[in-house]
Amino acid sequence: NWTMSAYRQKMIDKIREQVGSGRVICGLSGGVDSSVAAVLIHEAIGDQLTCIYVDHGLMRLNESEQVVTMFRDQFNIPLVHVDASRKFLGELEGQSDPETKRKIIGRLFIEVFEEEARKLGGADFLAQGTLYPDVIESVSFTGGPSVTIKSHHNVGGLPERMNMQLVEPLRELFKDEVRALGRELGIPDSFIGRHPFPGPGLAIRCPGGITPEKLDILRQADAIYLDEIRKSGQYDKIWQAFAVLLPVQTVGVMGDGRTYEFVCALRAVTSVDGMTADFYQFDMNFLGKTATRIINEVRGINRVVYDVTSKPPGTIEWE
Ligand code: XMP
Repeated sequence: NWTMSAYRQKMIDKIREQVGSGRVICGLSGGVDSSVAAVLIHEAIGDQLTCIYVDHGLMRLNESEQVVTMFRDQFNIPLVHVDASRKFLGELEGQSDPETKRKIIGRLFIEVFEEEARKLGGADFLAQGTLYPDVIESVSFTGGPSVTIKSHHNVGGLPERMNMQLVEPLRELFKDEVRALGRELGIPDSFIGRHPFPGPGLAIRCPGGITPEKLDILRQADAIYLDEIRKSGQYDKIWQAFAVLLPVQTVGVMGDGRTYEFVCALRAVTSVDGMTADFYQFDMNFLGKTATRIINEVRGINRVVYDVTSKPPGTIEWE
């Protein structure tokens, strides 16, 4: 007679048993997995847990504030919000190769996280939102113990370096079960049902070099796109939807003048697991209306295109 509420209690008991009176730190990404892990662990051991949210300055519009507010104000979980955006953007300046960008972000993430953990006086345990598919995948790839796959959140090596043990309460669960557990824990549906978001954030949605100005333009376009998707009731039918700011300027007309501004590509896909994907078939009126809003409201964009590539041969992200 398996229920999520019984599972929740069982996990809480297990966490208490593992951790005892030790101190736990958890890196929050703003995603569902690390959030559910943090709320569950907090319920088990209260303020023995501290969360660290490394803000790389590559999140979407208002996203960091939403994460911080939810954890601090709604769940009363001790949270360190590290604004490391200048460090990240500084080191990313002039870099346009996708893998180089990922490596820089991954390295800085670990550096910043480690420094903050040290400031907190260290901890006995590191909490991670590792899921069952991550465990399987990493075992089959490396033959070794679990490491999380996603390069950005991979703090592999960190627990050993800092002499910490891992707490991974979601190791037996699949994504849909994590969502159910999150709801059981009182995390709002709007948060639980969010589309996946890549660790390197908007850095890989801004092909070529990244500047604060470009990120700002991209954030505004993306927010309008998602707003239209939500308002039209399509958000939950889509696996991921986002805007990409292309490093291409085109000529346009606006009023009496000629414009020369960036092109924005819109992407939306359906998928089961992200491994394969089909482009989402929007109605043309929806696309036209959204394009008009973006061009009228966002300075710096004068043309919008829709990506009709499925995966394979394309990937979901552009980089
Ligand atoms: P692709 O673009 O490879 O993406 O079809 C498949 C899924 O993975 C996400 N993605 C990433 N997630 N770090 C992450 O944490 C990354 O570097 C990264 N690259 C892609 C992508 O958003 C999609 O959900």
